[in-house]
Amino acid sequence: MIWLIGCKGMLGSEVAKQLDEKKLPWIGTDREVDITDPQALIDFTNKIETAAYFPSDLRKADRKIQWIINCSAYTNVDKAEEEPELAEKLNATGPLNIARVARSIGAKLIHISTDYVFDGQGTAPYTEDLPKAPLGVYGKTKAAGEDAIMKEMNTYYIIRTAWLYGFDGKNFVYTMTKLMNSHDQIRVVNDQKGTPTYAPDLASVILRFIDKSDNAKSFFGKNSAPAYGIYHFTNAGQTNWYEFACEIYRLGRKFGRIKQECTVNPCTTEEYGAKVQRPAYSVLSKDKISKSLKLKIPEWQNSLEKFIKSDRFNP
Ligand SMILES: NC(=O)c1ccc[n+]([C@@H]2O[C@H](COP(=O)([O-])OP(=O)(O)OC[C@H]3O[C@@H](n4cnc5c(N)ncnc54)[C@H](OP(=O)(O)O)[C@@H]3O)[C@@H](O)[C@H]2O)c1
Repeated sequence: MIWLIGCKGMLGSEVAKQLDEKKLPWIGTDREVDITDPQALIDFTNKIETAAYFPSDLRKADRKIQWIINCSAYTNVDKAEEEPELAEKLNATGPLNIARVARSIGAKLIHISTDYVFDGQGTAPYTEDLPKAPLGVYGKTKAAGEDAIMKEMNTYYIIRTAWLYGFDGKNFVYTMTKLMNSHDQIRVVNDQKGTPTYAPDLASVILRFIDKSDNAKSFFGKNSAPAYGIYHFTNAGQTNWYEFACEIYRLGRKFGRIKQECTVNPCTTEEYGAKVQRPAYSVLSKDKISKSLKLKIPEWQNSLEKFIKSDRFNP
């Protein structure tokens, strides 16, 4: 049994969809089981054993929670500066509570983290072993969440991602599409580099960790399951927000999502005047995850095209 926490969020809803498609036994919770309340998490794991939660044909053995996937978080980067206590509760205390419960029931944990744990002063893709140096409240609280998990348990996969967009949630692609349909000129910063991540691509990687671990074969005592620890995942390639917006415009026009002409103008972060300092360079190295899971990571432009073309696209 897989327990998906944050199942109604942008990434969580995508993981839920793929768990259904793969017919894996899972149960999802969101705000109704508050991750900041340790007792609520414990109570839930106790209740899960009861028939009330499941169709009676689900075997008792399948009710044991073997995996927890945590997609819940405080994700509003700007607002986190005004609500640091709440961000801390959700991004640091929440993962600590989840890790404690996971350890107590012997479950493995997959937790999602962010490129914002780095300061973005780098010039080459960030590898997993580089020291964290978060700039703002969001990054600091996410970094604290990672630390709490690593201190509390050993059987975890922390997946750091960046520039996430998906069907069910506020994201850059939807925001740009709406702006381009209502303005003839927009400005987008061109001095922050990174790589977009299509939520369905990340969801399938999360499921691959589970599949690779559960179906690991032992050859001469060697386990082929991916080693526990931190992994980076985004789509392949790199870009900046301005170029990303230009590609959204091109594809949006091509597939009828953007109904009018709009000029996309580049500007600097300083000219734009954002409230929170964001990493200038946040490209993550995917070498470790590609090797461990034998992945061929889709290029960001190809995944963006899939998103914009999809029937589910609904900005
Ligand atoms: N979005 C990005 O660009 C981005 C980039 C890098 C990393 N990430 C990471 O990726 C993960 C998924 O992000 P996302 O964008 O899919 O997040 P999201 O859409 O904000 O989803 C988070 C979910 O957690 C729920 N939640 C809030 N408080 C909770 C609580 N106390 N207990 C249980 N659930 C609660 C939220 O409910 P409400 O909606 O009702 O608040 C929401 O359904 C996060 O760990 C995030 O830090 C995201």
